[in-house]
Amino acid sequence: MSNIGSYEGRLKNFDWSIAEKELGYNKGEAINIGWYCSDRICEMGKAGKTALIWEGLGGVARQYTFDDIRVNSNKFGAFLRSLGLKNEDRVCLFMDKIPELYIGFLGVLKIGAIAQPLFSAFGDESLHVRLDNAETTAIITQRKHVSKVRRIIEKSPYLKHVIIVDHDGKKPLKDREMTFNMEEYEEPKDFEFFPTKAETPSVLHYTSGTTGQPKGVKHVHYSLISQYLTTKWVLDLLEDDIYWCTADPGWVTGTSYGIIGPWSMGITQCVMDVGFSAENWYKFIEKHKVTMWYSAPTAIRSLMKAGDEVVKKHNLSSLRHLASVGEPLNAEAVIWSEKVFGKPFLDTYWQTETGSIMLTNFPGMKIKPGSMGKAFPGITAAVVDTKTFKPIQEVGKIGLIAFKPGWPAMMRTYWNNETTYKSKFTNGWYLPGDRAYIDLDGYFWFVGRDDDVINTGGHLVSPFEVESALLEHEAVAESAVVAKPDEVNMEVVKAFVMLNAGYEADDMLELKIMNFIRKKLSPLAMPQEIEYVKTLPKTRSGKIMRRLLHAKEWGEEIGDTSTLEDDE
Ligand code: WT7
Repeated sequence: MSNIGSYEGRLKNFDWSIAEKELGYNKGEAINIGWYCSDRICEMGKAGKTALIWEGLGGVARQYTFDDIRVNSNKFGAFLRSLGLKNEDRVCLFMDKIPELYIGFLGVLKIGAIAQPLFSAFGDESLHVRLDNAETTAIITQRKHVSKVRRIIEKSPYLKHVIIVDHDGKKPLKDREMTFNMEEYEEPKDFEFFPTKAETPSVLHYTSGTTGQPKGVKHVHYSLISQYLTTKWVLDLLEDDIYWCTADPGWVTGTSYGIIGPWSMGITQCVMDVGFSAENWYKFIEKHKVTMWYSAPTAIRSLMKAGDEVVKKHNLSSLRHLASVGEPLNAEAVIWSEKVFGKPFLDTYWQTETGSIMLTNFPGMKIKPGSMGKAFPGITAAVVDTKTFKPIQEVGKIGLIAFKPGWPAMMRTYWNNETTYKSKFTNGWYLPGDRAYIDLDGYFWFVGRDDDVINTGGHLVSPFEVESALLEHEAVAESAVVAKPDEVNMEVVKAFVMLNAGYEADDMLELKIMNFIRKKLSPLAMPQEIEYVKTLPKTRSGKIMRRLLHAKEWGEEIGDTSTLEDDE
């Protein structure tokens, strides 16, 4: 029997107070995610239970109990307070998937500060625009990433503290830098968490749109209510589970379901901070007897590519339940996983903005491979017409995914950008910007995004950000960035580039430009292909018609281009 029991049964009389009751939260009282994920679990008698099993490069491993998590996050909190940091200050976490990232995240929340996790592969430009936008006061990082901070520190006056968690005490520290060693720091006596309320901001995750700089999605402590219940009913975690979420906490899956969901339930989770290979992943599952595995379509397709033989070399019989998120999970991947693991990956759909799972396949429900399933109880979901914004009644007709606002984990705004936030709502619906249709049985099927944002391996990349960065390369006069099809990543970044006079359109330059973007933005944003062009298609008003280039890449009919122009 699964945690959710009967989906239809749960839909009847659903109320989020179910989660409030289970968490012992009463409206109006303090609610702090940091406390819920550590202290409360200890108070429930699970202080000695393993919370984190961690493995890094070269076979290094560390383990932490819930009491260790409680104590060490208090240390983080006390240290940050000693620097004068307080509630609502933004504190960036810029680390690989090391224990300090997971525990530091809770420490930041415990003092009521806003945690701003950023993917550690970001280059200095990606890092700078996000810190600048949030006016972040402190950044917690590692020695290996501090050089990126040093390159931007001069233009970051708001950034007062650069905290290095793994300093060896040898190399000299520069201006504003300091060390913090979680294991050695003295345990604070009588540490008290800041009494954050339901609507106190908790986490700021940056996400990329089509135009403009990335947007800071503001979440609040009350998001716990959705994150807890979706973890329980969709990820179906049970007391003795060993849970593995493969996502990096630099992205929302890695916080909502890689920290908050499992730990608020007191579940043991494992983390592997080693690059991807099918062999490594299967070994990890076998060694730690992983029972629940939450991953992403690109990883699953990579595993498919690695073949069935490598699966057979490992004992993966511990696996009880699998789920996926981030991009379309194709039917083949679902069918393949059922064949080799004995269980299908269940597709879940949500966003940074929604904070928790919205559409999903539930344990025990009939799975239609390729479909995103149905709405989580408490979520009113529809597919609305692109012109009237009214729910489409016709079965199978494509429109925009729409949700009635009001679930606990919904973003509260975009940081300093209320206008864009408001633009996401029409006719009483929140529109995530995706196209889909609903079948005869009420299942949702993903069709595509409604904008130019590129989803490469489950990571959103803004064509605007890449185009802006390209312009900073001396050889580039103009560019247009679109998605190009890819077997594993579904989409990868492709750039059409017009060169300045005097530059040779050759392979050497292509590599140089690619590397330039990789270092400035990130490996994800790096174009996998650069096509040199003499001109770029433009509208009468001079805007580049990305959609024309996109259609060509995907072999789609372009049709009448004058309508494309009208749309601009
Ligand atoms: C966008 C959100 C929160 C998960 C990590 C991504 C796409 C997400 C699915 C799915 C097809 C999906 C959508 C969405 N997406 N899940 N199951 N099937 N597409 O969070 O970076 O905010 O991206 O990812 O386009 O809007 P994100």
